[in-house]
Formats: sequence, C-alpha cells, structure tokens
Amino acid sequence: MRILLTGTSGQLGHALLPHLSRLPATAIIHAPQRAELDLSNAAQLRLCITDFKPDLIINPAAYTAVDLAENEADKAHAINVTAPAIMAEEARKLGAGLIHYSTDYVYAGDKADAAGNWQAYAETDATGPLNVYGKTKLAGEQAIIASGCQHLILRTSWVYSNFGKNFFLTMLKLARERDQLRVVNDQWGTPNSADWLAAATCEILAQLQRSKDAVSWWQQFGGVYHLSATGATNWFEFAAAIIELADQQNKLGKAAPQISGIPASEYPVPARRPHNSLLSTEKLQAAFGLSIPDWRSTLDACMQSVQAPASAPLHSTTQAQGQAK
Ligand SMILES: NC(=O)c1ccc[n+]([C@@H]2O[C@H](COP(=O)([O-])OP(=O)(O)OC[C@H]3O[C@@H](n4cnc5c(N)ncnc54)[C@H](OP(=O)(O)O)[C@@H]3O)[C@@H](O)[C@H]2O)c1
Repeated sequence: MRILLTGTSGQLGHALLPHLSRLPATAIIHAPQRAELDLSNAAQLRLCITDFKPDLIINPAAYTAVDLAENEADKAHAINVTAPAIMAEEARKLGAGLIHYSTDYVYAGDKADAAGNWQAYAETDATGPLNVYGKTKLAGEQAIIASGCQHLILRTSWVYSNFGKNFFLTMLKLARERDQLRVVNDQWGTPNSADWLAAATCEILAQLQRSKDAVSWWQQFGGVYHLSATGATNWFEFAAAIIELADQQNKLGKAAPQISGIPASEYPVPARRPHNSLLSTEKLQAAFGLSIPDWRSTLDACMQSVQAPASAPLHSTTQAQGQAK
C-alpha cells in the first residue's frame, strides 16, 4: 500500500508515522515536509499526488491556529478547505482512499438535555461552528464528501502529545515556572492523546488491509466518525490531572502550583469556543469494534514519556485557557 501522509511536523502526523510503519501491508510511506509540499500551493499538491499515486492519503495537516484564524480566514480556507478538496478530487481519480481529521469545533457546543446537562454529540447532529477555524474544517469535510472519493473523516477533540504545541505541554511548562494557575472550567470535552489517535487510526487501517475487497470495505465503512477517548472533563480538571501526575512522577522539579478554575468569560480570546465538545463514539465502536480508553489512562501513558526537568525555574501567577483546535 502506498500512503501519502501530510503534517508530520504536527502532533498527530508525528504520532502516525511510527504506527503506520508497523502496519503489515504498508509498502511505501511518502511524508513530505512543508518545504517540499506546501498545502496552500494547489498546483504543488496536485503534482505531489499525481506523481506518487497513493492508494491512501492520510491528512492530519491543518491550519490549527484557532485565534489567528479569525484574521487569517483566507489562509485557513486554503489549508482546511481547498487542500482537502484537491486531495479528495485526486483520490477519486486514482481510486485511492482519504483519511482526513476534523474537529469538535464543527458543532456549536450547546447540546444539552432538558435539565441542562451536556449531551455528547452524534455524527448526525446539526453542525454550527462558532469560529473561522471550525467553519473551514466543516467546509473541508463537505468538500471531501461532495467529491465522491472513498473517505473516512475522523472528528476528534482536545489533542495533546509530548510533541508539538498543545495544552498538555503548556500546562507542564507553566506548572514548572509558577506557583498559581487559573484555568477555564466551563468548557467541557475529552482530551485525546495523539499517540492513541494514531494507534486507533492504524487499527482501522489494519481492518481495511485484512479485507478482501477494498472497494466494498470503503462502501461499507466510509463516512464521518467521532474518534475520541471516553470520559468528560473541563480544561481546569484536565490541567489539575496533568499537574497531579507530573508531581507524582517527579516531573515538575518543584512543588505543584495551586490551581483554580475560572469561567471562560474571564479569559477573553479572539475566537469563540464551544462549551460542550463531548463526542459520542457509538458509531465508531459499532463499525470497527475498537476498544476505547478513558482519557486518564492515555494521559498517564503520555506523562510517562516526559523527562524530569533539569532545574527549577521562576514563580509567578498566570491564567490559561484550553487550546482546543
Ligand atoms: N490540536 C487539537 O486540539 C485538535 C482538536 C480537534 C481536531 N484537531 C484536528 O486534528 C488534526 C491534527 O491536529 P494537530 O494537533 O496534529 O495539528 P498541529 O500539531 O497543529 O499540526 C498541523 C500540521 O499541519 C501542517 N501544516 C499547516 N499548514 C501547512 C501547509 N501550508 N503546508 C503543509 N503543511 C502544513 C503543519 O506543518 P508546520 O509544522 O510546518 O506548520 C503541521 O505539521 C487536524 O486536522 C486538526 O484540525 C486537532
């Protein structure tokens, strides 16, 4: 199987590379860096695909700067809409498959029962993105679906890793530097480790590889899915869990900071964010029978990979909000 993989300098792309190379039937993985393949260059992207002739394109690359996107809508559109549309069109011409990642931010984040308790979104629920990033991710999904190519669109949330830019590493850094932290406590969701997302993607791919007829497999299983760990938390609780684990495993190099929760209204940012990012994975489990971990167990695995700091740094106060994308 010839696989074109984008975004390997990002959290998920970086995590996918080692998992993909362990797949039994992976023949060749082509993972061009941005210098070789700029996704905002449509001609370059088409040429890359027509030259390499993949059986499968995996696209974790995205414009993920949620706040910057409010002022860079064209740039976000080029990478989150035009590029996946081209991938889908070229994949359809080649008879290739496309695995594309999307986000909880396609929803408005207000799904609740009559008592006001947040309810997890199903793939069939109405979308209603609140910000430019979410709108471009939704439009990217729609372009893929409209192309008629064989596709899996995997919506996930709150991605973190011991690599790249994410809430996990930001909290770890702040906890090593400061004595007090204030973190948003009224936005709910499920953290997802990039490593688990990559492993789950490869489990699905292994099922595709084992199938006798790839075209029938795509017909049966293609579509939009939520790919997420189980459990519900908020940014404050997630930060507290990160700090507690880091402290237990001596990864802070100092005493743990005090942490308190604040409403999102006390931490204004340019892009509106959903209050409820919970994603139901019933459809994913029914289709692929994956065993879905609780978010805390994948957090523990990620913390195990963190090195203890060399020295103990500065103390001060700050507040922080989730960096969901
Ligand atoms: N992070 C989250 O919390 C989150 C939540 C829900 C869904 N998602 C979705 O999950 C997927 C993976 O996210 P992630 O957190 O792994 O993203 P990430 O760490 O921000 O990585 C994004 C990747 O896209 C690449 N990229 C951006 N613009 C490019 C361009 N013009 N040409 C080539 N490459 C370009 C980046 O390359 P450079 O390093 O060169 O910039 C990087 O490799 C995305 O589809 C995202 O929308 C993420």
